[in-house]
Amino acid sequence: MLDALEWAAKIASFDGFVMVTPEYNHSTSGALKNAIDFLYAEWNNKAVGFVSYGSVGGTRAVEHLRLIAAELQMADVRAQVALSLFTDFENFSVFKPGDFQRESLTTVLNQVVAWSKALAPLRAA
Ligand SMILES: Cc1cc2nc3c(=O)[nH]c(=O)nc-3n(C[C@H](O)[C@H](O)[C@H](O)COP(=O)(O)O)c2cc1C
Repeated sequence: MLDALEWAAKIASFDGFVMVTPEYNHSTSGALKNAIDFLYAEWNNKAVGFVSYGSVGGTRAVEHLRLIAAELQMADVRAQVALSLFTDFENFSVFKPGDFQRESLTTVLNQVVAWSKALAPLRAA
């Protein structure tokens, strides 16, 4: 378990992120929101991509996270991995992603790396 200072140092050490979120009542989880809200400057001028899961791929949770990312001055990439509880999990619990999700994830990672690099001058300022 990280304390608040360790959490801040850990996030400060990265240039970009992939956030993984479930969907609860059409939004992200309270636990993830709380962890995000603990910090501010550590998120600024960095890129973020999303992997989500839910009955419709967790896409509604990610739409909320995109609004939050804007407030944190983060660049959210367009590509997204949206995992369906119906087709990417067995019995709604055992993770068995469709083959095409591999390509989706590669696109997310490439976009996050590219935008993280592009934002480096802002982080240095
Ligand atoms: C209170 C509650 C609300 C939920 N709301 C949604 C929802 O809006 N959309 C959805 O796709 N799944 C919803 N779910 C199902 C969760 O996304 C699903 O249980 C998921 O596996 C939770 O992931 P976690 O156990 O990793 O937190 C909800 C579950 C609970 C308990």
